[in-house]
Amino acid sequence: MPGITVLCIDDEKYVVDSIRDYISDDYRCLAYDDPMVALEYLRSHRVEILIVDYRMPGLTGLDLLKEARKFEAYHTGLLLTAYADKDLLKDVLNNGLVDKALDKPLDLPRLKIELDYLAQRINRRREAEDKLKDIYRLLSAGGNDDFTFIGRDGDLSELWRQVEQVAPTEENVLITGETGTGKDVLARQIHALSSRADKPFIKINCGAIPATLIESELFGHEKGAFSGADRRKFGKIELAHRGTLFLDEIGELPLELQSRLLHVVEDKALERVGGTEKLPVDFRLISATNKPLEKLSKDEFRRDLFYRLSTVHLALPDLKQRRKDLPAHIRILTEKNCRLFGKSLMDICPRALDMLTGYSWPGNIRELDNVLKRVILMKADGQGTLLPEDFRRCLLEEKGSSPEAVDLAARQILSGQLSLQDLELALLTRLVDLCDGKIMEASRKTGIPKDRFYRLQDRNTP
Ligand SMILES: Nc1ncnc2c1ncn2[C@@H]1O[C@H](COP(=O)(O)OP(=O)(O)OP(=O)(O)O)[C@@H](O)[C@H]1O
Ligand SMILES: [Mg+2]
Repeated sequence: MPGITVLCIDDEKYVVDSIRDYISDDYRCLAYDDPMVALEYLRSHRVEILIVDYRMPGLTGLDLLKEARKFEAYHTGLLLTAYADKDLLKDVLNNGLVDKALDKPLDLPRLKIELDYLAQRINRRREAEDKLKDIYRLLSAGGNDDFTFIGRDGDLSELWRQVEQVAPTEENVLITGETGTGKDVLARQIHALSSRADKPFIKINCGAIPATLIESELFGHEKGAFSGADRRKFGKIELAHRGTLFLDEIGELPLELQSRLLHVVEDKALERVGGTEKLPVDFRLISATNKPLEKLSKDEFRRDLFYRLSTVHLALPDLKQRRKDLPAHIRILTEKNCRLFGKSLMDICPRALDMLTGYSWPGNIRELDNVLKRVILMKADGQGTLLPEDFRRCLLEEKGSSPEAVDLAARQILSGQLSLQDLELALLTRLVDLCDGKIMEASRKTGIPKDRFYRLQDRNTP
C-alpha cells in the first residue's frame, strides 16, 4: 500500500523478521527487536501502523503504545499476545491504543488481512480529509477575489494598527461600515493573519438566508429533527471548528436565534436542532454589519449579544473619507479586471484619474470595481489608455433624481462633458443593475418599454 509504513516490535527477532518478509512486498516495513530503540525512532518519526508484542523485557507493549500515543507517533495499532488476558485486552482496546489484538503464535495470512483492512481504512480517511480540505479551500475563498486588504489612508492607518494587534488574538471582532467598504475583505484578512489561518474560514450571510432555514444552517440538525430532515447536517458553526466563523449582516439575525447564538458563544458548545448532545466547538467569531447595532432597540438586537460580538469594534470609513487610497485601488482593480477579461493591461489618463478621485463613490469600493469592470469590458483590447469619456456614462451620482444629481448632470451637459444620450444610457444601465441585471424586471417596475433597454444593449456593444 503506497504511503503506509508498518513498524513491528517484538523481542523475538524471528517474529519481526518473518512479519517483514511476509508483508514487505506491499508495505514499507520497519522491524525492531528492542522496544527502547523502537520508541526512540518513534519520537521523531510518525508511522501509520504499529504492530507490538505485549510481553517484552524492559518495556511492555502497553507502555510503549501509551508513550507513542503521547506524541502521536502512530495512527493505528495491532497488539500481539500469547497470554490472552481478557481484562487487559479490553483496557487496551477501549483506550483506543490498538484496533485489534492477535494471538500468538502468529498466523501471518491473518495478520496480512488485518493490515490490509487497516490500510484501506487509513487511505479512505486520507481521501476524506483531502476532500474536506478542498471544501474548506472553496468555502474560504471569496470567488476569484484576492483578499489582500488595500489602503492605509487617514483613519485606516489607526484601524490597521488595531487589526495587526487584534488579528493574532482570539478576541471577537465586529466590523461595521457602509456597503462595499471592504468588510468581507477585512474579515478574511484578519483570519489570514491569525493563528487559525490554515483552518477553515466559514462565512454565513444572515441576511441572505430565509429566517426559517438559518437555524439549521448555523447550528445543523439531526436526522428526523423536522419533516424533510432525512439526514444529519453539520451547521456552519461546526464547520468552523478550529477556524473562524464570519457572520455577515449579523443585524439580520432573527431575535430568537440571537439568544441561541449567545449561548454557543459563551459556552463554546452547541446542540444541533433536534439533538440532545452538547458538542464542543472552538471558533473565532468575526461579525459584520452596516446597521448601527448599538442603536437598535432591544427587541431588534440583544444588547448582551452586541457586547459579546464587539470585544473589538473596527469601523471601516467610506471610500470618500480615504481618497488617498483611491489611486492604489484603481490601479489594482484595473489590473485585476484586465486579467479577468483577458485584456492587456490598460493605463488611466490623468484627467480620468482626477475624475475618479473627485467622485463621491456612494457604493464605495464595490462600485469602483463595478465601474472599472464595465469600462474595461467595453474598451476594445489594445486601445491602451482609459479616458474620461470611457467613465462618463458610468459615473452619475447614485442619488438618481435628487436635485444634486440633476444639477450635476445639467452642469456636465452644459459644459459638454456629457450628452443627453450618455445620461439616458447611464440611467437605464443603472436601472437594470438595480434590478439584478434583469431587463424585464426593470421594465415592469418602471413602466419604461423594454425595447429601450434592448436598444441600450445594442448601443453598448462595441
Ligand atoms: N480594502 C480593500 N482592498 C481591496 N479590495 C477591496 C477592499 N475593500 C473592498 N474591496 C473590494 O470591493 C468589493 C466589495 O468589498 P466587500 O465585499 O468586502 O464589501 P462589504 O463591506 O462586505 O460590502 P457589503 O456590506 O455590501 O457586503 C470586493 O470586490 C473587494 O474585492
Ligand atoms: Mg459583505
